[in-house]
Amino acid sequence: MTSQLLPSPLADQPFSRFILSSQKIGSGGQSRSGVWICRRRVKKTAQARGEKLAGKTLVWKQLNGFEIVKREVEILKKVSHPNIVRLVDYEILQDWRSGKALIVTELMKYGDLMTFHTQTIRRNLVEKEVAPINHQILLGLRCIHGKGIVHRDLKCCNILVAGFQIIEGIYLLIIKIADFGFSKKMSDEANSTEPHLPAVRAGSASSRASIHGWFVGTNEYAAPEVFAVDDDRDRALAATVYRSTALDLWSLGVILFRLFTGMAPGNTKRAFKDSRTGKEELRVCPALSGQVCLDEDVEDMKGCQGGFKNLIARHLKRKLKIELLWTRHWMG
Ligand SMILES: Nc1ncnc2c1ncn2[C@@H]1O[C@H](COP(=O)(O)OP(=O)(O)O)[C@@H](O)[C@H]1O
Ligand SMILES: [Mg+2]
Repeated sequence: MTSQLLPSPLADQPFSRFILSSQKIGSGGQSRSGVWICRRRVKKTAQARGEKLAGKTLVWKQLNGFEIVKREVEILKKVSHPNIVRLVDYEILQDWRSGKALIVTELMKYGDLMTFHTQTIRRNLVEKEVAPINHQILLGLRCIHGKGIVHRDLKCCNILVAGFQIIEGIYLLIIKIADFGFSKKMSDEANSTEPHLPAVRAGSASSRASIHGWFVGTNEYAAPEVFAVDDDRDRALAATVYRSTALDLWSLGVILFRLFTGMAPGNTKRAFKDSRTGKEELRVCPALSGQVCLDEDVEDMKGCQGGFKNLIARHLKRKLKIELLWTRHWMG
């Protein structure tokens, strides 16, 4: 037996500052083992004693694995905004062959927007409900874009619900943007090898092993240019596309559409190879649906008035600048 086959001594090593509970609250593309409710080991204040937090664990086997964690942590450290999830702390344990990390954030007890929509609200949202969500996502985006950061994986599962009220049957949500695991600083080197980085996401529903190569984001929410670039051939162009704030605005359009209809706009599917199993599967890619199909879908949206329909159509036609969005009544 070679030493590589021995289990890593890190495997059972606990984190020193936090204890993970057995309560799993999420699993996504990047967090191989998931997101858990956790608490501090050392509880100096009464507040710390009672505080429940969210701990995302990540494990990796390649030498540069911790770079991905470092990037997410560095970005979270840079932003402090009511609509961005707050980083509490992090821990990285690494030896020469593997590593694991814990990213601790404030716990959002109502989970993510996708789950909240499908399991708690359980109906399509109306304009009065979508407008404030749109507003808060835009506030969060304005903050990160202003700091030169593109999220690149904006989707309902990465929006967390911090609180809500029901007034006359209308759900009013407080939301925060989370999961900066794919995020990118616009100032990063254009020839960076980064589009190939997220190997830890391999095999998940949000992993990006396309037939033609890698791309970032999630197919259902990914902008058209992401599909158009063959980054294996043109790394510089890929790096430019992947650092554009326009990616996040397209994804926001898809989020809004989803909240109104429970579906993705368009129904065009494309085959993707699961990099873990090697199997190909068909996934919905609205960005490949073409304008006519998207227009028809937007027109069909129930509970959505002309102004908002126009807004979503503009999102999906790329005729949208973030500044334009601040003056409109649908800001909620
Ligand atoms: N701070 C948090 N509070 C509550 N739930 C969370 C929190 N962070 C993550 N989750 C849950 O875990 C899921 C995965 O977390 P995420 O940070 O998106 O990890 P991944 O990088 O694996 O996608 C989210 O979709 C959400 O359901
Ligand atoms: Mg996620």
